[in-house]
Amino acid sequence: MLKWTDELSVGVDEIDNQHKELISRVAGLLSAMAKGKGKDEVTETLDFLADYVVFHFSSEERIMREHAYPGFTHHRQQHLFFTERVKGLRDRLAQEGPSSSLAIQSQRLLSDWLVNHISVIDSALGAFLIDAKR
Ligand SMILES: [Fe+2]
Repeated sequence: MLKWTDELSVGVDEIDNQHKELISRVAGLLSAMAKGKGKDEVTETLDFLADYVVFHFSSEERIMREHAYPGFTHHRQQHLFFTERVKGLRDRLAQEGPSSSLAIQSQRLLSDWLVNHISVIDSALGAFLIDAKR
């Protein structure tokens, strides 16, 4: 079950708070799918998540630009990859509805990717920002 824990903290409040919201929206989508909610409801939760993904990634990218972060290009590529995958899920959902294979794919793609991205890529950004403040 996807949940924010202190282990996911990157040490920067603005980013942590957005990650909490992001994780709660991913969890909302996965739980709607797991509960076998209908296509309209699942689509709504996916759209709700997709909106927040755009907002969150652009915030991180603004922070990286403001601090001339050397890992910007690589980090942004990861964001673009995820955004494309979310788009792919939306297309699949529109075509086939909330199937169980889509639920499994969403779990892997959203939950696993996100935890990994936060733990590795965003943590590196957080460490850089904390260092820059010293
Ligand atoms: Fe990120």
